[in-house]
Amino acid sequence: MNPKSMCVVGMGYVGLPLAVALSDHYDVTGFDVSNRRIISLKEGIDTNMIISSESLSKSDIDFTDKADCLQRADMIIVTVPTPVNLDSSPDVKYLKKVSETIGKQLALVDRNHLKCPIILYESTTYPGCTEEVCKPIIEKYSHLKCGEGFRLGYSPERTNFGDSEHDLSSVVKVVSGQDDQTTEDIAAVYSTIIGAGVYMAPNIKTAEAAKLIENVQRDLNIALVNELAIVFDHLDLDSTEVFKAAATKWNFVPFKPGLVGGHCIPVDPYYLTHVSTESGYVPKIILAGREINDQMYQFIGKKINNLCQTRLKNPSKPIEVLVLGFSFKKNISDTRNSQVPNLVRQLTDYGYNVSVNDPVVGSDYFRNSEFTYYEGNEKLYDVVIFSVDHDTYVKMGYKAHFRHLKKFGLFVDINATFHRYKQRFNDFSYWSP
Ligand SMILES: NC(=O)c1ccc[n+]([C@@H]2O[C@H](COP(=O)([O-])OP(=O)(O)OC[C@H]3O[C@@H](n4cnc5c(N)ncnc54)[C@H](O)[C@@H]3O)[C@@H](O)[C@H]2O)c1
Repeated sequence: MNPKSMCVVGMGYVGLPLAVALSDHYDVTGFDVSNRRIISLKEGIDTNMIISSESLSKSDIDFTDKADCLQRADMIIVTVPTPVNLDSSPDVKYLKKVSETIGKQLALVDRNHLKCPIILYESTTYPGCTEEVCKPIIEKYSHLKCGEGFRLGYSPERTNFGDSEHDLSSVVKVVSGQDDQTTEDIAAVYSTIIGAGVYMAPNIKTAEAAKLIENVQRDLNIALVNELAIVFDHLDLDSTEVFKAAATKWNFVPFKPGLVGGHCIPVDPYYLTHVSTESGYVPKIILAGREINDQMYQFIGKKINNLCQTRLKNPSKPIEVLVLGFSFKKNISDTRNSQVPNLVRQLTDYGYNVSVNDPVVGSDYFRNSEFTYYEGNEKLYDVVIFSVDHDTYVKMGYKAHFRHLKKFGLFVDINATFHRYKQRFNDFSYWSP
């Protein structure tokens, strides 16, 4: 197989960078159902702020919201969302819908011109979903048999957006196909854009499961240090100091307590626990880790409330709080499942007057929202919460942030970014989890 044309479906955080990378080697169409997204990409604007206007205009991608582009592709790569429902069960409606669209478009192709495209899913999902949910839908609507009219593959996305060290090209890509030949064909395509190389998984289910456990492991590691931070708080110990001391042992794995958000780490574990539960085993540790991480903002909120009662001298009425950082992690504008809004709501429920700032998310996001956006003023706050360690904030240094604090005010450093300077903070109270 020597593919020439690619259609990437879903021009989001995952799909757009992939389309841009592929466009150096192939004819690429970027298909998305969102007309708004397509219009802004055609204007050279990635509102997710991952791809620069310069890279977009150089890329020569054909952006479209018309599904007939699917008829012409040698390879179709699916990168649509895979969230969870309110009861935390996998919500695969986007995968089902896109599989139906692909099937319907393939049904329209003249059988003499059918290219037997590879349909490759990149969306994170549970083992079995690609072959047991998506494949039958494509077969139903296309009237084609998998292996004859199209071939199937899966390759999970692993890029850490906002982290230039771990971009698309520098992270090994796991690839899998319905058979050895398809896996090799997929590997050949990805080898053109992944400098770190590809890993050929023995089958699609293994690749699906591998992606999930990468995030399960990270979620649990953070849950463990979050629980330890709560334990040490009860024991009146500075957890950062305890972690620092323990990290001097060769096999201690350093993780930091904090808020776990986004659409991957708090979501993907449920994809695994769901299929496991359905198959007769209810996981214990994975679900316990989820619970601890989901409740971490409550522990932090309660602690701030206690510290305000005990440490603030002359607090304003109501207590004035400035929150620095709103996205779910540093250096990106993505706010999906961020725990910061929950913390803000909790403090508001305590009666505090809370303002938020996030230069990466930008002030537009907060227009007409329930949150008060801080764009700069001379006001002094009782509490400053440094919630997301965006590089821009860190480079400013702690003195720039202390400028917003009243004398003897409270600085809450959720990621312990400035912990090493804490001996210098004589005029302020400092706390990190
Ligand atoms: N963002 C990340 O850091 C990341 C990392 C690894 C894996 N993932 C996984 O990748 C997948 C995509 O995530 P994302 O963050 O890029 O999502 P996203 O919400 O940023 O983008 C998804 C895009 O798909 C489009 N879409 C939805 N249904 C469609 C359809 N039927 N046809 C065409 N387009 C459709 C949406 O309009 C949207 O633009 C998810 O499964 C996610 O879990 C994301």
